[in-house]
Amino acid sequence: MFASKKDIVGIDIGSSAVKIVRLRESRGTFHLENIGIMPLNPETIVDNTIMDSTAIVDSIQNLLGAMKIKTRKVATSVSGHSVIIRKISLPIMTDAELESSIQWEAEQYIPFDISEVNIDFQIIGPDAKDPSQMNVMLVAAKKDFVDDYTSLFAEAGLEPVVMDIDCFAVENMFDYNYGFVDNEVVALIDLGASATSVSVLKGDTSVFTRDIQTGGNLLGEELQKRLGISGDEAEQAKLGDRNIADVDPDSMDEILADAIENLVQEVQRSLDFFSATSSEDRVTKVYLTGGVSNSVQVREALEERLGIPAERVDPFRNITINEKEFDPEYLDAIGPMFSVAAGLAMRKVGDK
Ligand SMILES: Nc1ncnc2c1ncn2[C@@H]1O[C@H](COP(=O)(O)OP(=O)(O)OP(=O)(O)O)[C@@H](O)[C@H]1O
Ligand SMILES: [Mg+2]
Repeated sequence: MFASKKDIVGIDIGSSAVKIVRLRESRGTFHLENIGIMPLNPETIVDNTIMDSTAIVDSIQNLLGAMKIKTRKVATSVSGHSVIIRKISLPIMTDAELESSIQWEAEQYIPFDISEVNIDFQIIGPDAKDPSQMNVMLVAAKKDFVDDYTSLFAEAGLEPVVMDIDCFAVENMFDYNYGFVDNEVVALIDLGASATSVSVLKGDTSVFTRDIQTGGNLLGEELQKRLGISGDEAEQAKLGDRNIADVDPDSMDEILADAIENLVQEVQRSLDFFSATSSEDRVTKVYLTGGVSNSVQVREALEERLGIPAERVDPFRNITINEKEFDPEYLDAIGPMFSVAAGLAMRKVGDK
């Protein structure tokens, strides 16, 4: 059991890249063993649907080979519109009681046929407003969606022993590196390529989650569409290249600023929705993960619009690193993209 606990690797299949993290734990501290990233063609995963599983299987196998990873046990995660996360209130009952009634209780909260979903839950604790009730985090994921991932790992010869949700993996990573502060209300915002996920935490409790079906791709797409440049050029422009033939740098800045404003507005809408539905809690700070959090413009636009600080998260903050093996500057630059994979790599066999 001891060996198998250690023998787990975190694999995040993002829409823009596969990311792998392997950690070693000793006396409660994680040590970075290895990381790897392999970009995926934009047609590989479209709108949360795996279009080309062979390309993903190849990427995973190539990465594991290059990283010299032998273990077959994997922690991975899913996200998107096939996954429903809801905080619900139910009469106080034991874990076992809820286990036997969850299908029935969950039915009204799930927009899919209950027979089509895998259901999981976690009892958060008593409801502050009504002592006869308790708060429960309900998670439902469409079976055929999860099956796509399971069969992909089977094809790669791997065993997914932990099937997590992206935002829970980010919370896990955040807890280890930053820690939760009692009653402090913060939002973790994962700014990915095709999606943005918002999760609000009060202390160590997740109180609100929302997926926004847009992300960093939007910035490139806008540049491409409005300037009539190629996808590659748009990607370069997005990352700051202002030397693209026949394009006025000022118009690039303007288009980028517009697109960032749209993205930031979506985030604000989510947080406004949280404020409107929670009685008194207000988010006091946002922590940013995902590749788009590398953009200073995005960070500044968020701070300005939300009127609260926005900090870029370092997923390796409390992970010990051998600087002879890993260049700290490189780790810092790519860090935000590894937030989900790092949280996954901290999972243990037997975790939900
Ligand atoms: N400096 C930067 N400025 C703007 N965007 C950036 C920057 N660096 C990386 N990105 C963008 O971040 C995205 C990749 O981030 P990440 O790895 O978190 O996404 P993903 O996990 O593959 O996507 P998703 O979670 O949406 O499926 C890409 O769209 C990339 O262009
Ligand atoms: Mg991602």
